[in-house]
Amino acid sequence: MTVKPFPKTAFKYLIYECILPCKWPFLICMILMFIETNIYNLLNWLIAQLVESLKSGVSIEALHKALWFVGIVAVCEAINIFLRKEAFLYRQKNLYFSVQDRIYGRALSYIFGHSVNYIINKQTGTLLAKTKQINSIQSTFSILLTRFWYWISDIVLKIFLLSFINIWLGVLFLVCSVLVAVVNYYANKASNRLNKMQSKAEALYTGWLVDVISNIRLVKQFNRINYEKKRLYTLLRQFIKIKVSTILVWFSSYTGVSCFIHLCSIMMLMFAVYLWSKSLINVGDIVFVLLTLNTGFMWLSELGINYRQFANNLAYIQAGLEPFYDAHEIEDLPDAKELKVKNAEIEFRNVGFSYSEQKKIFDGFNLRIKGGERVGIVGLSGNGKTTLINLLQRAYDIQSGEILIDGQNIKNVTQASLHQNMAIIPQETVLFHRTLKENIAYGINVSDKKIKQAAKVACADEFIKALPEGYNSIVGERGCKLSGGERQRIAIARAVLRNSPILILDEATSSLDSEAENIVAEAINNLLGNQTVIAIAHRLSTLRKMDRIIYLENGKVVEEGTFNQLAKKKNGKFAKLWKMQQLKERN
Ligand SMILES: Nc1ncnc2c1ncn2[C@@H]1O[C@H](COP(=O)(O)OP(=O)(O)OP(=O)(O)O)[C@@H](O)[C@H]1O
Ligand SMILES: [Mg+2]
Repeated sequence: MTVKPFPKTAFKYLIYECILPCKWPFLICMILMFIETNIYNLLNWLIAQLVESLKSGVSIEALHKALWFVGIVAVCEAINIFLRKEAFLYRQKNLYFSVQDRIYGRALSYIFGHSVNYIINKQTGTLLAKTKQINSIQSTFSILLTRFWYWISDIVLKIFLLSFINIWLGVLFLVCSVLVAVVNYYANKASNRLNKMQSKAEALYTGWLVDVISNIRLVKQFNRINYEKKRLYTLLRQFIKIKVSTILVWFSSYTGVSCFIHLCSIMMLMFAVYLWSKSLINVGDIVFVLLTLNTGFMWLSELGINYRQFANNLAYIQAGLEPFYDAHEIEDLPDAKELKVKNAEIEFRNVGFSYSEQKKIFDGFNLRIKGGERVGIVGLSGNGKTTLINLLQRAYDIQSGEILIDGQNIKNVTQASLHQNMAIIPQETVLFHRTLKENIAYGINVSDKKIKQAAKVACADEFIKALPEGYNSIVGERGCKLSGGERQRIAIARAVLRNSPILILDEATSSLDSEAENIVAEAINNLLGNQTVIAIAHRLSTLRKMDRIIYLENGKVVEEGTFNQLAKKKNGKFAKLWKMQQLKERN
């Protein structure tokens, strides 16, 4: 199933990916917030009325009135506390959780939908950092609802209540609020730009760090710890430098905005006193103005911090979105069918392919492999052997021609069904940091007995049994606790269990010494059944059992025939290579 890319801007992402899919919980949260602000302002109003009622002096009547007010204030406060708790729980459960759940799910599906080429071209760490960045959504939501929305409803209500006391008080408060918001916006513009730079610098540093840690063996072998440290420090320093500048710029703007807010408060208070002196408002009203200024402008002074956090989050999300709006390079067609394999006949028809414009790897390449045929591919390094099997797996799309399996163009079938029908033993066996059992079964639900049988076929049972934890041994990151030959045999056992109609071996024995090579070659022979086999090899001796061998040069088949035919061919390229290898082995 194709997954839609994410919108390109953080703001659209917020609207279309987060708010709209959860519009009802979002609306309910807004209403709950609105009720909260109402109660809060009602409390201020009641306190102001209480002060006003006390003004008339001590009497039984005034005392009764005051007690009534205190009682109502107490009840309102209790309701407020209860409501705040309920609103908080509702937000967490029905909004934040479901939004995060959705976003994580979408992000994972989208990342996995990218081609291998895309993923290997990005640093894993950078991808990880970016996935994390788009999930700054919870705090973004929290700011939107519990800050911006709360603040807007609060200000609107305060303007309404102040206007009720005296229209000019309301107008002045409105003007001050707008001015503070505008000043805030401009004061934060500079730090917003820095925020974006900061999140980019962080992703770069994290990407580099993960790359170095995952290649730590190489780093140590080449004694390059200081070299890597130096590069990491440079990136880290860049990141910290931007971070510090962001904080400094923000702090100066925050101080400026705070001064402006205080100025507005003093102005409003002076105006309230003036109205009182003209007997246009009473003492209770001045108390209300005081309380309003206190809470209202407190929000306004926090607006800067919240806006900064919000802008920071948006910048984070924006930087994190990149792999999520890059279109998938290889997609299933909308009407893609399942690949149906009967004979497993493979045909490359007029295939043209290049990684870049400068160099064509294949140009009009033709090769037909009959169902059940075993074909060995030979050729000097860099002549396109691995590329050929990558194309068969549709790791890249070809630029011209067709690749057919049992007459079905691999472009017209689903990638899942294509991969399902192939078992691959790659040159570099990759194992997960999991048990040997899990690595062999890899996602197939089979009994321990079957796993052992497969390991026996792959000549791996003996060495696995000798390990302290046997089949439950953890193999270390990328299988680092096993030897090259052992890793290969695990890969072969995996292929045995998979039992696919097409088997691909990419130089399965090239990195091994003769003894290990013999064991692996035996394992491969055990594996071979009646499936179609494509085997790439530098060690030609491993190809003796193949029905046909093709010699690839510059993306063209320059020789083909059985092992013996090619080995005997006068001035043949294969024969020359074979002679050289025999000589080397004898020496
Ligand atoms: N992902 C890639 N992007 C760009 N160029 C690539 C990529 N992979 C391979 N190439 C180039 O394509 C050419 C063919 O590479 P390929 O890996 O198919 O060779 P090969 O025959 O398998 O070599 P070897 O015997 O060394 O494994 C090489 O010149 C290589 O540099
Ligand atoms: Mg190769």
